[in-house]
Amino acid sequence: MAETMKGLHRTHRCAELGTAQIGQTVTVMGWVQKSRNKGGIIFVDLRDRSGILQLIFEEADCGRENFAKAEKLRSEFVAAVVGKVEARSGAVNENLATGAIEIRVSEVRILSEAQTPPFPIEAGSKTKEELRLKYRFLDLRRPDIQSKLMLRSQVATKVRGVLAEEGFLEIETPILIKSTPEGARDYLVPSRVHQGKFYALPQSPQLFKQLLMCSGYDRYFQIAKCFRDEDLRADRQPEFTQIDMEMSFVDVDDVIAVNERLLQKVFRDAIGLDIELPIPRMTWQEAMDRYGSDKPDTRFGMELTDVSEVVKDCGFGVFTGALEHGGSVRGINAKGQGQMPRKKIDALVESARGFGAKGLAYAAVQPDGSVKSSFAKFMTEEQMKALLKAMDAQPGDLLLFAADKNKVVWDVLGNLRLEIARNLELFDRNQFNFLWVTEFPLLEWSEEQARFVAMHHPFTMPMEEDLDKLDSDPGAVRAKAYDIVLNGTELGGGSVRIFQADIQEKMFEVLGFTKEQAQERFGFLLDAFKYGVPPHAGLAYGFDRLMMLMTGADSIREVIAFPKVKDASDLMTNAPDVVDQVQLEELGIGITEKTDAEI
Ligand code: AMO
Ligand code: AMP
Repeated sequence: MAETMKGLHRTHRCAELGTAQIGQTVTVMGWVQKSRNKGGIIFVDLRDRSGILQLIFEEADCGRENFAKAEKLRSEFVAAVVGKVEARSGAVNENLATGAIEIRVSEVRILSEAQTPPFPIEAGSKTKEELRLKYRFLDLRRPDIQSKLMLRSQVATKVRGVLAEEGFLEIETPILIKSTPEGARDYLVPSRVHQGKFYALPQSPQLFKQLLMCSGYDRYFQIAKCFRDEDLRADRQPEFTQIDMEMSFVDVDDVIAVNERLLQKVFRDAIGLDIELPIPRMTWQEAMDRYGSDKPDTRFGMELTDVSEVVKDCGFGVFTGALEHGGSVRGINAKGQGQMPRKKIDALVESARGFGAKGLAYAAVQPDGSVKSSFAKFMTEEQMKALLKAMDAQPGDLLLFAADKNKVVWDVLGNLRLEIARNLELFDRNQFNFLWVTEFPLLEWSEEQARFVAMHHPFTMPMEEDLDKLDSDPGAVRAKAYDIVLNGTELGGGSVRIFQADIQEKMFEVLGFTKEQAQERFGFLLDAFKYGVPPHAGLAYGFDRLMMLMTGADSIREVIAFPKVKDASDLMTNAPDVVDQVQLEELGIGITEKTDAEI
């Protein structure tokens, strides 16, 4: 039978002890990291979330019974010990915060025994992620994960503090809501009381925070769980957390100013990083033209160059064909990569295809100035010279060109730029480049739905100077929308909202909703707008992404206590899972098996 803590009180966490406590009698509790029995003397490393502490057991100090218990201690046993803090008898361990001391134990209690864990509980584990996630409760004991989750908690506390100082109120919004599809797919929850009807889980608190503005709460924030049934990636989870906010009587600059102060205070407090303010801003158009991405990583160059004008009269059909179809020809210059072996270039061409290109044209400038190129034969020497000049090419450079519709060209070169930078380690992992991307297009043409869809969401305000284009050229209307980007990741996004009924109606019309459909889906918001609505704007950060970037983690799974894997399942609990027939009947739900052909 395991012993209890009765009569004992933990006085310190393991790593809270140091030379300052030498001579004190303390009580510590934790997990056995490892135990070494040297005959008459036993050394045990005890671990808790603060760190590791060395215990020393000798029969002369603790008596026979305690010594016998110490002999039984194995990795991951949970123990409580009482003992005296002493200067280390052996060599000081510089790697440990508590490396200059040890606890000479007078009493030990084994609170819980443990099986041998399926992988070692230590930092920097090489264990496969699947196994780690199946035993997440053990994985979470590892110090590198613990430090990330502790930092996450510290950041949440700081965010609350700063936003409270800025006059924000923390208000919760519901999780069981009405489905208002737009954007990602909803997770649905069947209603027992209203059979055949469903709640949706919120993709974000968007509509509720706007209603709170209508209700006069002026500055709202929430650390909110959001749910989106979309394909997972390293920076996407089906449930994730937003730091969500909304403000009344403000415009773009006000939202940006509050958030710059917030970011500066949070990064300084959490990782000692001083963000220089103001954070640079770039319009969406400039970001696409220069980086082929609406979330550019500005830690390195290799910017895109539009060479359409230079190649428009050349004999290379791939280039001129793209231009004739309203596209463009653009290139990037991988400096000093002119000698890249053919195999690696072929791999880049393959990557480009993966990013949607039909092909990738290249020109490698040799040290003697001659050019090896997949398309030189279609060009005169003059034309090639002009192209090299436009690309600022020097001997030894590798030029890569894509010709297609703008969207494809941006995507291909933007992604290739990142791939090459990653391969060549062109950026400093310790650098933090923040960037506001502004003036996003309001609408995006969806080939699939054959209509315009909102690029951010249907409540985003068009820029005043573009309002007249809503009818004539909706695709050209820019929005009062902004994203905050950090090192090539979209950390957060937001917008100024439409608060005039006529503009909102127009917006729904452009999006292809009838009046009835708009009323059916968003009626409560439109109604609220009839009773006095302040101009308002807001923003939401992906909290998990913020923590991923702050801790240098490769994936948001590393900063979420219980994450899901690619197929949206939880390897530890096995969710999602089948439920009892009785539960289904209560909900009036029948399951139809899909045939292989339907799947
Ligand atoms: P948006 O859809 O841009 O805006 O989301 C805001 C931020 O949330 C994070 N994020 C995610 N993080 C992890 N997993 C996901 N699946 C995921 N999806 C989004 C991103 C993103 O920048 N209501 C608006 C905000 C507003 O307008 O105020 C919204 O939700 O970091
Ligand atoms: P082809 O005429 O198909 O033999 O292509 C000649 C060269 O143009 C090859 O290097 C192709 O990879 C390249 N290429 C083909 N399509 C494109 C494109 N859309 N953009 C850039 N290069 C392309």
